[in-house]
Amino acid sequence: MKNITILISGSGTNLQRIIDCIDNGKIRNAKINQVIADRECFGLERAEKHNIPNQLIKRGKDFSENLEKAIPENTDLIVLAGFLSILKPEFCEKWSGKIINIHPALLPKFGGKGMWGHHVHNAVIEAGEKESGATVHFVTSGIDEGKVILQGKFDIDEHDTAETLAQKVHQIEYDIFPIAIDLVLNK
Ligand code: GRF
Repeated sequence: MKNITILISGSGTNLQRIIDCIDNGKIRNAKINQVIADRECFGLERAEKHNIPNQLIKRGKDFSENLEKAIPENTDLIVLAGFLSILKPEFCEKWSGKIINIHPALLPKFGGKGMWGHHVHNAVIEAGEKESGATVHFVTSGIDEGKVILQGKFDIDEHDTAETLAQKVHQIEYDIFPIAIDLVLNK
C-alpha cells in the first residue's frame, strides 16, 4: 500500500475526487496518510469527515520547518491539490520525483509566480486562446516548470468567461488527476 500526503489551501474538490477514486479503485493500492492545509479551508473538513488525519500549518514564521516535520515518514507521494504556498527549493529537491501538482492551464503557458485561480483564467481569456485545460506535473524548484505527467484540454468558445473556464478546467482536473496519481504510484 502506497501512502499519499495531500497539501491543500482551498475547498478541496480535487481532494474529494482523490478520496473517491481511492475508494472506487481508480487509484489503486493507495491510502491518504495525511492532509495538510496552510490556512483554514473547507478541504480540512472533507478530510475530517473521511477520518483522514489532517492538520493546519499556518503560513508565517517556521512554516517550512513545520511543514517538513508534518510529512509522515512513510509518505510515498506528496500531492499538491490546490496548494498556494511556494515550497522551498530544498524541500522540492528532497522529494524530487515524489511530489506532483495540478495546474489549471496548459503548461508551459500561463504558469509561474502569481498564476493561480482566476488570474490564470483571466490571462487565458485576454490572450484570446483557442483552448485551455489542466496539467499534472512533477514539482521542482522552478514554479510550474517540472516535467508534465498528463494534460487534458477543451476548446474555448466565444461565450466563455474566466468563470466558465474555471468550471470546465475543474471537470478536466477531476478526470486527469486520479489517472496521473495512479500512473505515478503504480508505474
Ligand atoms: C484547482 O483548479 C487546481 O488546479 C489549482 O487549485 C484549484 C483547487 O481546487 N491548483 P479545489 O480546492 O480542489 O476545488
